[in-house]
Amino acid sequence: MKLVFATNNSNKLKEVQAMLSDIQLLKLTDINCTEDIPETSTTIAGNAIQKINYLTTNYKVDGFADDTGLEVEALNGEPGVYSARYAGEDKSTIANMNLLLEKLSVHNNKKARFITVIALNLNGEQHVFEGICEGKIIHQQRGNKGFGYDPIFIPNGFDKTFAEMTLEEKAQISHRGKAVRKLICFLNQLD
Ligand code: IMP
Repeated sequence: MKLVFATNNSNKLKEVQAMLSDIQLLKLTDINCTEDIPETSTTIAGNAIQKINYLTTNYKVDGFADDTGLEVEALNGEPGVYSARYAGEDKSTIANMNLLLEKLSVHNNKKARFITVIALNLNGEQHVFEGICEGKIIHQQRGNKGFGYDPIFIPNGFDKTFAEMTLEEKAQISHRGKAVRKLICFLNQLD
């Protein structure tokens, strides 16, 4: 069986492919999809669903798409679905973190969580998988691994930020790791 993973990130693709035995994953360029897929929903799940529905409608393929956001409790769930563009359309990681830290500086509650939603379209049915990682935001950036908000996020039960963890350590506990494992579990039990 072949499935499209709505990404051009070959690291993400490799990671997931390594966990699937009988399924061959294709990335967007493998199906000649080079345009920007619309992500205009106001929810994380909505964006994942919008992306995979776009591919199923326009390219007649089965596959899955993911979307991730960071929700900060004291900021009523911001930046949430707007995590990538929080400080502006140029998607600057530094500007995004600085804006978040500035807004959060007046609050004592530092609780936050990452959410990843994966939407799978397969044989005319849609399946949705969610992974959540609870933690807190710190004001001093720490670590140089990972990406995005990793240097200011410490998952519950740890004293390291995501940016101070190896890829393997992060994947064991991360939102994305959890959602991907649910997807893989589902795919591996298909006939
Ligand atoms: P995407 O849905 O994977 O494109 O993620 C949206 C935005 O959330 C990214 O631009 C990152 O800023 C942030 N983000 C997603 N996943 C992570 C993560 O694992 N750690 C830190 N930031 C992340």
